[in-house]
Amino acid sequence: MRSNSYNKYYGITTFGESHGKAIGVVIEDVKPGILFPFKKIQKLLNERKPGKGKFSTTRKEQDELQVLSGIFNDRTTGLPICMLIYNKNFKSEDYDHLKNIFRPGHADISYYKKFKIYDHRGGGRASGRETISRVAASGLITDLLGDISINIYPVKIGKFTISEEDLTFCNHLNWHDRSNYDQLEKYLKKIKSEGNSIGGILQVKIDNIPAGLGDPVFEKLDANLAKAIVSIGSVKGIEFGDGFSLAALKGDLANDEMDKNGFITNHSGGILGGISTGSELTFRFVVKPTSSINISQKTITKDNKQIKFKSSGRHDTCIIPRIIPVAKAMIKLVLADAKAYQKLIDNKSHTLSDYREMIDKIDEELLIAISRRQKISELIGRYKKKHDLSTEDSKRENDLLQNIKTKANMWNLDSQLIKKIWKILLENSKKIQ
Ligand SMILES: Cc1cc2nc3c(=O)[nH]c(=O)nc-3n(C[C@H](O)[C@H](O)[C@H](O)COP(=O)(O)O)c2cc1C
Repeated sequence: MRSNSYNKYYGITTFGESHGKAIGVVIEDVKPGILFPFKKIQKLLNERKPGKGKFSTTRKEQDELQVLSGIFNDRTTGLPICMLIYNKNFKSEDYDHLKNIFRPGHADISYYKKFKIYDHRGGGRASGRETISRVAASGLITDLLGDISINIYPVKIGKFTISEEDLTFCNHLNWHDRSNYDQLEKYLKKIKSEGNSIGGILQVKIDNIPAGLGDPVFEKLDANLAKAIVSIGSVKGIEFGDGFSLAALKGDLANDEMDKNGFITNHSGGILGGISTGSELTFRFVVKPTSSINISQKTITKDNKQIKFKSSGRHDTCIIPRIIPVAKAMIKLVLADAKAYQKLIDNKSHTLSDYREMIDKIDEELLIAISRRQKISELIGRYKKKHDLSTEDSKRENDLLQNIKTKANMWNLDSQLIKKIWKILLENSKKIQ
């Protein structure tokens, strides 16, 4: 069975183990002549890398992208593309003590029972490193998705739940609730000091998704998303829209009523009958606590001896932040396929003038936003004059630029360029004031 291949239209095959020579992906069916987005893919790989957060593992890998085939003069040739990332920062001897031990929570025992071969070196193909291939593959299809935007953030980590959602509040956990962030950090520090780990629930919101994606009956959009997300190691469940809480709702509250402007509610999470409705697509999924912990637990050896095992070294206390780029990659792969299918049904392909029309529309929206900003600046100017306040406020200006820079990074934008643009806008605002 080709269980390491994925997708029908945009087909990928991934390979490699955590402590083998390399991890990689082969992609077929890429159109010829596309400028290969090397930097963009490397950036995505950097975002997936461990070691960014305070509660992250210490294995440091450069994860440098190598392209073995399918590219000529920086453009795709239309032939299979092979992307490779070498595993460098590990010593297989470090794992010798695990040769006969099945670590609790890991897939060691199930892999052994299935294949009768035990690659004890750090989880093999069940390791988080396997997800590098998925992230690399997703980098090639970003443009295909147009203005679809994917936002993923935790709504629960251990006993903490988001209550006051503020998407402008950014941090290494992507936790958007100021009110309990400090307590959450303390909680995670304590779990880390105990050598333990914790999981959580991630919320996904996909906007600007066209109606009509998803193909009955075995390529339904929710079914394909569920498969893609649950195929990520450590993900244990998924719910769409109101999900499991629908069990307690009566039909009149669960149905999404419609009026001439569209859906009034979105209990379904933007999918009906496996096809996107055009409403925001929402789902949540649960990530189990990191399997490797520095706490002694009962387990068995390959020859069925009972022993106690405690993982040594430092591990991720919570892998939630590391799952986000991987989940994003999987969603992109699912949507790319669904879009490609829909294009076949629509019998419509975008021409250069279609794309120019899209760009013109975005430019128009930018101009409207700048004009609205200018008007508000004028109001601020009047307010300041009335209350005898200075037009100069360097602290506010610095905070604003910092905030913009953080958001630019979050949305994969060139933060220096964005900073430059905002400086010009701020200078202009001061002139108006
Ligand atoms: C990006 C990513 C990073 C991970 N990092 C770790 C880790 O550092 N330690 C660990 O024990 N499990 C880690 N895992 C989880 C394991 O891959 C997985 O939980 C384990 O092998 C078996 O769980 P499963 O039954 O859900 O596949 C990671 C998973 C992903 C997707």
